[in-house]
Amino acid sequence: MGFEVLRCVSMTSAVDTASDAWQPGSWRDRPADQQPAWPDEDACKRVEAQLSGLPPLVFAGEARNLTAALGEVAQGRAFLLQAGDCAESFDDFSADSIRDKLKVILQMAAVLTYAAGVPVVKVGRIAGQFAKPRSQPTETVGQTELQVFRGHMVNDDAFDPDSRRPNPERLVTAYHQSASTLNLLRAFTTGGFADLTQVHAWNQQFVSTSAEGRRYERIAGEIDRALRFMSACGIDLAAEAGLHQVDFWTSHEALILHYEEALTRRDSLTGNWVDGSAHMLWVGERTRRLDGAHLEFLRGVINPLGVKLGPNATAEDVVAICDTLDPDRVPGRVTLISRLGADRVESLLPPLIEAVIASGHPVVWACDPMHGNTFTSADGHKTRRFEDIWTELRGFFRVHREAGTWPGGVHVELTGDDVTECLGGAEEIFEDDLHQRYTTACDPRLNARQALDLAYRISELLRD
Ligand code: PEP
Ligand code: CO
Repeated sequence: MGFEVLRCVSMTSAVDTASDAWQPGSWRDRPADQQPAWPDEDACKRVEAQLSGLPPLVFAGEARNLTAALGEVAQGRAFLLQAGDCAESFDDFSADSIRDKLKVILQMAAVLTYAAGVPVVKVGRIAGQFAKPRSQPTETVGQTELQVFRGHMVNDDAFDPDSRRPNPERLVTAYHQSASTLNLLRAFTTGGFADLTQVHAWNQQFVSTSAEGRRYERIAGEIDRALRFMSACGIDLAAEAGLHQVDFWTSHEALILHYEEALTRRDSLTGNWVDGSAHMLWVGERTRRLDGAHLEFLRGVINPLGVKLGPNATAEDVVAICDTLDPDRVPGRVTLISRLGADRVESLLPPLIEAVIASGHPVVWACDPMHGNTFTSADGHKTRRFEDIWTELRGFFRVHREAGTWPGGVHVELTGDDVTECLGGAEEIFEDDLHQRYTTACDPRLNARQALDLAYRISELLRD
């Protein structure tokens, strides 16, 4: 079965292909992996024009502030927590699910900040994480072969030809869902919900009765006491903005380049280009080729950038990617997110670190302990073992300790819901349990208890 990939014509003015001049559309002259086969070129162009006229979701000053915050991480003075869904869903979209995801990220951050004593930069995989790279372009069930599900920004997961046909109108839906998600996140994080005096309220009912939840309650109690102590010492807590609101940033994989280009705007103050779809963007393991469209697009926007590094990443590739994305060597501009697998991190990571140190790029090193540890259970569920996730993280910390570099952050897939998608954790989930509450739109996520359990363990590593 073959699908012809249509390329929408650039919305921007003529691209200078003879030089390395960058334009929001200059990626169109490069090989673009993982792009959907939009069946109707005119519909795609109409959507791009529509998105180009809509307000950006974030502005340039925010992207610069996040780069500065990540610069602190690059220099070993803060820790990055990047977390959220593998794929957000058009179907599972509610205030409650956004709130519950935020709750578990705030809980993890509270544990890391309190128990390990480091400021935590909080970045959600949220408000735009709608597109998925896939290892095969099609999926076959019985005799039927259909285009693979590429995330709700592109098509629907139901296995029928209509659902799987890419529909560019979905880019507009993704934009609006991102806008309302971000609006609620901004309200929660600045309007009182993220106030440190609310630290108990983030503990959800189903978590609070578990061992992880009770341990969290103790930390929350200690935070309360610390606040009362400061108040008794005469410190005006009401005047301390840092206690009452948090900076919470959005991120997603910059996969569908028509969408990212259409949301790219020029900052009127500096003339810089910013991708207004999210604060931070990352390039995935499958699209980070040096001659490819994704790196070409990302090198021109000022947003802080992540780069996923799988087992095939070579030291030369990694340095060349850093040279492309960060020629000026700005701390916090590039976050290298290794996802090498529990059994390989200790052998594969050291040469990458060595090469990056020698190159002088001031990167953030983060560990994604999820994507190198995925397998399919006997009954066909894609899953991950909590122990493998933990082993990769421990290996990541050990390697950095030996290299003398700062293990700057973690990148995890989680949900605030009580799902049964990853195996193990303190509240053992077994293969036979997976079917009970398996709701992910793509990869298996940590549930809130597993996520908290992981935060305690990371805080112990950070304290060591
Ligand atoms: C992801 O983060 O969901 C993902 C697909 O990651 P990777 O590119 O590392 O495989
Ligand atoms: Co994933």
